[in-house]
Amino acid sequence: MGQDRSADIHHERSGIVFRPGLEGVPVTQSAICDIDGLQGRLAYRGYPLEEMAAHSTFLETTYLLIWGELPSPQELRDFEAEVQMHRRVSFRVRDMMKCFPATGHPMDALQSSAASLGLFYSRRAIDDPQYVYDAVVRLIAKIPTMVAAFQLIRKGQDPIQPRDDLAYSANFLYMLTEREPDPLAARIFDRCLILHAEHSLNASTFSARVTASTLTDPYAVVASAVGTLAGPLHGGANEDVLAMLEEIGHPDRAAAFLEEAMATKRKVMGFGHREYRVKDPRAVILQSLAEEMFARFGKDEMYDVARAVEHEAATRLGPKGIYPNVDFYSGLVYRKLGIPRDLFTPVFAISRVAGWLAHWREQLGANRIFRPSQIYTGAKARSWIHGEDRAPATGA
Ligand code: SDX
Repeated sequence: MGQDRSADIHHERSGIVFRPGLEGVPVTQSAICDIDGLQGRLAYRGYPLEEMAAHSTFLETTYLLIWGELPSPQELRDFEAEVQMHRRVSFRVRDMMKCFPATGHPMDALQSSAASLGLFYSRRAIDDPQYVYDAVVRLIAKIPTMVAAFQLIRKGQDPIQPRDDLAYSANFLYMLTEREPDPLAARIFDRCLILHAEHSLNASTFSARVTASTLTDPYAVVASAVGTLAGPLHGGANEDVLAMLEEIGHPDRAAAFLEEAMATKRKVMGFGHREYRVKDPRAVILQSLAEEMFARFGKDEMYDVARAVEHEAATRLGPKGIYPNVDFYSGLVYRKLGIPRDLFTPVFAISRVAGWLAHWREQLGANRIFRPSQIYTGAKARSWIHGEDRAPATGA
């Protein structure tokens, strides 16, 4: 996958080959997450994703990603208690969100409100472990509250305060839907958060590391990453997958849709990945979670369309190494959980804050500001000329 490399362009001084999108180019060393794209394997700090998704919780996974080891039971209780204590968001942030247009995309609301936290916690002491710990706790605790708050505010309601008697995922679903979730639904949502928490140097995590490398505050780091995640080629795809399935409408129309997409070079949303040449291991687990949800709460008719797309794509896109990625089945789980479609990507962000903060902390541990080079392709040296002597600027 990727652009034609027969036209490799070498940097004149270093001789390094220019790679569009930095495909295959290591830009850092990291001990957080390991991906085997050929075998379809993913591990968090050495622990296989399948085991984490089966046995862990999102907060335990967050602790592992950020501090490198699974917490003791007491360490986990302390972390959970700290996160619970910081779930509430200042009325100033809530009042600010009430000024946002209700028609705005929730990812823009999240990016704005995440950045605003830097105004309230303005002390920049990134070399102080307590400051780092406090920032991690605040962001992990407050991002879900802000996502749920915008949902109620845009409906013209006051946000719901977090409930201290509910665990992390159950509390988010409660604040979002105004109903205490079924325990199975809360557990499945928590497992979705585990699956989305970290994925090495994806675009939004790369944004986080670049922003972190300037030694700015962690709230700006997360706001930068949220803006990057919002794009349809990255975290925004989960929302577009559902629209695509509805456009196809019936399993029998999957083959024709794929033929048309290939003929018109249209990207099939939820398919393909820069790293994986097989089905994304997260898609495998998310598909099983979708089936678990359907068995208990009733099936989503778009699931048969999704399975037909995957089946028909196997012979058409499979030979190019293009298979379902993390976004292909996630929306079907989220819709069954009662999460509005345009909140699918903010939910992705709730989870990925764990990975972004792990990379923020790792970057600070061995920092050098990112400042790559370029291969200049612009105009040669030329002199300024008076307006009346100029030809029309055709590029306008
Ligand atoms: C995420 O990086 C991460 O880890 C991201 C992520 C994470 O956890 O952070 O995994 C989350 O972003 C998942 C990806 C979600 N995006 C989508 O589902 C959007 C659809 N996917 C594509 O846009 C694409 O597959 C990307 C962006 C995911 C990867 O693109 P690449 O590696 O840059 O590949 P490319 O666009 O250069 O395509 C290479 C070839 C092209 O064909 P040719 O021109 O060589 O003939 O593969 C084709 C592409 O047309 N191709 C697809 C396709 N993806 C690639 N063709 C049809 N449908 C697709 N989805």
